[in-house]
Amino acid sequence: MVDKARFELATSSLRTKRSTGLIYLPTSGDTAIDNRDINSSSLQPPASVQLLIAHAIGATMDYRQFIGRNVVSIKDLTKDEVECLLDLAERMIPYAKGEKRTKTLDGKIIANLFFEPSTRTRLSFESAAHRLGAQILDVSQMSATSIAKGETLADTIRMVDAYCDAIVMRHPYEGAARLATKYAKSPVINAGDGAASHPTQTLLDLFTIRNCKGKIDGLNITLVGDLKYGRTVHSLVDALMMYDVKLTFVAPDSLQMPADIVENLRNHGYDPRITSDLGEVIKDSDVLYVTRIQKERFPDPAEYKKVAGTYRIDKLALLEAKSDVIVMHPLPRVDEISTDIDGTPNAKYFEQAFNGIPVRMALLCAVLGGEI
Ligand code: CP
Repeated sequence: MVDKARFELATSSLRTKRSTGLIYLPTSGDTAIDNRDINSSSLQPPASVQLLIAHAIGATMDYRQFIGRNVVSIKDLTKDEVECLLDLAERMIPYAKGEKRTKTLDGKIIANLFFEPSTRTRLSFESAAHRLGAQILDVSQMSATSIAKGETLADTIRMVDAYCDAIVMRHPYEGAARLATKYAKSPVINAGDGAASHPTQTLLDLFTIRNCKGKIDGLNITLVGDLKYGRTVHSLVDALMMYDVKLTFVAPDSLQMPADIVENLRNHGYDPRITSDLGEVIKDSDVLYVTRIQKERFPDPAEYKKVAGTYRIDKLALLEAKSDVIVMHPLPRVDEISTDIDGTPNAKYFEQAFNGIPVRMALLCAVLGGEI
């Protein structure tokens, strides 16, 4: 039998928020926790038991619960899970900057399947994997795979799954990442599927807002640009519904936020302000989240020409805004943010892009069972 005092000591590190006393008392028949664990120098029970105890006592969520999980949509995560990953990302910053080193994912192989162009997502996943000691299998175009010979995505995923421990995939079609989860035993992380979803971008967006503003609740967040085809804003709205925020959507009528997303917001008690006039709302905004018009998703190039260059944030526009407004952009930008604000304290988009590394490190570490 494990005595109460020693068990309390062994589990005390888990009670970071609430102390509710001894909830779980192992017996001599419990094989998960035995004298070797209790007598170890750290007095820590095994990770699996710590996790069970953490849940039982309502302690801060443990990132080890993510082992083997797919992340296809931000809606696959609860608010507590999002916050848990953001907390882990915070701890990853010195590793992401190379100030500390870890080999926690030594021996793991991550397949980076990018069937659509990418700079930030592909390279930051690759950097994140290297910083954690993992190896990368990199595919950066569909034409370089046997898909070009007619192989199905399902068969491609079956094969890749046999070669790696986790799959990161970007694909032009909505639902491709969800499909991949049906054929992969390894965790699948959606790195963007068509106009639908980009959950890892959303995590780094939330991380940036939280770090720059010290909170997310209570903010007035304005999304500007292509709200119809921009997957980053669709995922971000899904995530912001976990918080107490005011939302404003600024777009030409033809590129406004899809009606089903607006309806869902209203059904959940949000009342987004919808306008095409940025000047009308810029002064109220704490966060300006600007997006590129997604030229590649327009069925008709003439339609793109009608709306290209509609909005441009420059120093003059910022004169109308709060002095501490932050300007974000998932990047790449075309001409919607003038380079004349790059050096201002308001411009956070390069910091945001860097944040992709600690956030993706956190996610890879969590789904692959790393320890930090
Ligand atoms: N923000 C983003 O997804 O950028 P990339 O397309 O370069 O990956």
